[in-house]
Amino acid sequence: MKIVILTGAGISAESGVPTFRASDGLWEGHRIEDVATPEGYERNPGLVHEFYNMRRAHLHQVEPNPAHRALAKLEQHLGNDLTLITQNVDDLHERGGSKRVLHMHGSLLRATCTSCREPFHWQGIMTVSSKCPFCKAMGLVRPAIVWFGEMPYHLEEIEAALVACDVFVSIGTSGAVYPAAGFVQIAHLQGAKTIEINPNLTQNAHHFAEQIQGNAGTEVPRWVEELLDQA
Ligand code: APR
Repeated sequence: MKIVILTGAGISAESGVPTFRASDGLWEGHRIEDVATPEGYERNPGLVHEFYNMRRAHLHQVEPNPAHRALAKLEQHLGNDLTLITQNVDDLHERGGSKRVLHMHGSLLRATCTSCREPFHWQGIMTVSSKCPFCKAMGLVRPAIVWFGEMPYHLEEIEAALVACDVFVSIGTSGAVYPAAGFVQIAHLQGAKTIEINPNLTQNAHHFAEQIQGNAGTEVPRWVEELLDQA
C-alpha cells in the first residue's frame, strides 16, 4: 500500500510551534508581505533575517510530539511506500525519527545564496553580511524558505508519489495555500482514499472522503496503530 502524507503547521502546534493563520492575519506581529515575500526581503532584509533567526532559535525550545513519532514509526514499516511531504520549515519530523521528509516550503536549517544559488546547511544567526561558503559572496545569503510567489521544492517527486498512491492523508493544514491545497484532488482523481486529520473544519474539507476530527497528537498515533494492526 502506497501512502502519501502531507503535513502543515497543525502537526507541530502541540509541540509549541505557532500556526500561521491566526485571526489577526499576522505572523507573530508581522505582515506576511513583509516577512514571506521576495519583495519584503528586498525592502528590508534585516527584518526578514531577524524574523527567521527568531524562528530558528525557537527550534531549540520545542520537541517532536506523538504525531511526529507515529509517522516515523509508519515509515519504518512502509519504507519507500510512504512519502512524507511537509509544508513546515521546522525539523520536528526528522527529530521525531523520520528519515525521508520532503520539505516543500524549505527549511529553517538551510540557506541559499542568491548569487550562486547553491543550497547549504545553516545553524545560528543569519545577517545581511553572512557569507556564502561556496562563491564567498557577502550579503547574498538568505533562508532556504519558499516565500509567496516562489516555486516550492520537490514538486516532480511529489507529483509522482501522488499519482501512484492508494491513500492520501492531510494532517494539520488549513488547505489555504497552493499547490499543496490541490494535492487531495490529484490523489482523489487517481482513485486514492483521502483522509483529513484536523480539529477544525478546513476550507478543503469537502474534498476528503474521510474526516478525523481532533488533534494530531492524539489522532495520528491512533490512525497509525489501526493501520498497522490491519497490516
Ligand atoms: N492538530 C492538528 N491540526 C491542528 C492542530 C492540532 N493540534 N491545531 C491546529 N491545527 C490546524 C488548524 O485547524 C489549521 O487548519 O492546523 C492548521 C494550520 O493552518 P495554517 O496556519 O494555515 O498552516 P498551514 O496550512 O501549514 O499553512 C500552509 O502557508 O503561510 C504559508 O508557507 C506557509 O507552510 C505554510 C503554508
